Amino acid sequence: MRAVDVIERKVEGKELSSEEIAFLVNGYVEGSVPDYQMSAFMMAVVFNGMTGKEVADLTMTMMNSGDIVDLSDVPGFKVDKHSTGGVGDTTTLVIAPLVAACGGTVAKMSGRGLGHTGGTLDKLESIPGLKIEQDMDSFKDIVRRLGVAVIGQSGNLVPADKKMYALRDVTGTVRSIPLIAGSIMSKKLAAGTDGIVLDVKVGSGAFMRTLEEAEELSRTMVEIGKMLDRKVAAVITDMNQPLGLSVGNALEFREAIQVLCGEVDLSDPLVDVCLLLGSHMLVMSGKAENEADARMKLIGAIRDGSGLEKLRQMVEAEGGDPSYIDLEKIDLLCQVRRKVPVYPDRDGFICGMNAEGIGTAAQMIGAGREKKEDEIDHAVGLIMHKRLGDAVNMSEPICTFYINDETRLDDAVALLKKSVCISGERPEKTPMVYEVIS
Ligand code: URA
Ligand code: CA
Repeated sequence: MRAVDVIERKVEGKELSSEEIAFLVNGYVEGSVPDYQMSAFMMAVVFNGMTGKEVADLTMTMMNSGDIVDLSDVPGFKVDKHSTGGVGDTTTLVIAPLVAACGGTVAKMSGRGLGHTGGTLDKLESIPGLKIEQDMDSFKDIVRRLGVAVIGQSGNLVPADKKMYALRDVTGTVRSIPLIAGSIMSKKLAAGTDGIVLDVKVGSGAFMRTLEEAEELSRTMVEIGKMLDRKVAAVITDMNQPLGLSVGNALEFREAIQVLCGEVDLSDPLVDVCLLLGSHMLVMSGKAENEADARMKLIGAIRDGSGLEKLRQMVEAEGGDPSYIDLEKIDLLCQVRRKVPVYPDRDGFICGMNAEGIGTAAQMIGAGREKKEDEIDHAVGLIMHKRLGDAVNMSEPICTFYINDETRLDDAVALLKKSVCISGERPEKTPMVYEVIS
């Protein structure tokens, strides 16, 4: 077989065989297929797409390129959740302990922030002492004891994705539905859980900009799960504004604690999405009869504090100082040199937000990395005071920056202002949740 022939067949829009896909992907991981052939192939996929069978073959080959986690010696139905990436999306820190408090078993390997989007691992590392690198035995041990562990990827999981993702990042081949589906599902399947709830984001802060694209990505990933005998559900949620009000690592951790303490209204977008994802996880795990029952249980675990207690236990098990899992003490991790309010240039209503711009503004002041080796300042970030559709006036800040290093503050403030559109008319309400595909 020759790589160039396989690439040409994809260029001609033909369906590739399992062997052809395996030849390219395995060859790329081993080094016999060079970067330029892999990028030509992926660009052909961007334009010509893939059939359901091709995406399944791609996913399987990628999944089998490295270690696969075996959770069979951990009792219970193991469930994972995954977001395609957003801004102010601290759902994992809320749902993982809540679902465990309701009897579910959550075994989750999370990622770091990517571009303008935040990552759970960076948020976890806001807590002094917490070690996100755990070996497989201690990961399983924590899941067995507490019903929940969220750690960094351990071992050599899906090396094909590491290589392909880095290449996609610099060849304009990130936003392809089959490539995204293969990338996400190969990692989720290799992580070994029985069920996966996917949060597919759509909007200005997401990879998927239209509902049609988000639906297609969701259906593709659910189909892959079916073929491999895992339970997969996808919910499509809005990313046209930061999900929570906080953007930044310790700040988002604090917001998660506020939710778990019942300090945030149940109708708040962050809580709304958490309850939706959590209820699908519980129903899938057989721990609730239906969505309504699951919601009641989750709300119960907020009200009686058992969700917060689970988070505290998990933090302690992972080496973190559990005393920070507290409404007042978490404030100590959000101490910064200066807090800078940002005022709007006119009165009116917020008619649009560019969530990517808001995420990038937080990244610019040190909440995220621009290069892989950049250091994060866990305390910094921003807090939005207004949501889409809210009335604003020039004497009230729309946002407060939490900063330690002022070098790029002016640029960050300018970007934030540019990312919030204000008009004279109140816009129509848009939904937070579009649909559920399972
Ligand atoms: N997240 C991933 O893990 N992979 C993609 O391709 C896009 C988002
Ligand atoms: Ca108090």
